[in-house]
Amino acid sequence: MSPYRKFIFICNGSDCKKAGCKKLQSEIKDLVKSHEYQGKYKLIKTKCMDFCKSAPSVIIQNELIKKADLDSIKKKMG
Ligand code: FES
Repeated sequence: MSPYRKFIFICNGSDCKKAGCKKLQSEIKDLVKSHEYQGKYKLIKTKCMDFCKSAPSVIIQNELIKKADLDSIKKKMG
């Protein structure tokens, strides 16, 4: 087991669902499973995080990614 993984939080609240978080979630899932990121990140679903205006909301390394998409997430993951 890997000793340390960074967390990615993705909101599954109703506004983020409307904004397409489910699709984004499965894209992130594939990404963290990919060879490049394997064992480095752990994806966690959350309830509403109170950033509904920025839906879909994702938090990586203590930073909110507003209106997240796969590109902005990849940039944060490095
Ligand atoms: S529904 Fe996602 S932040 Fe509120």
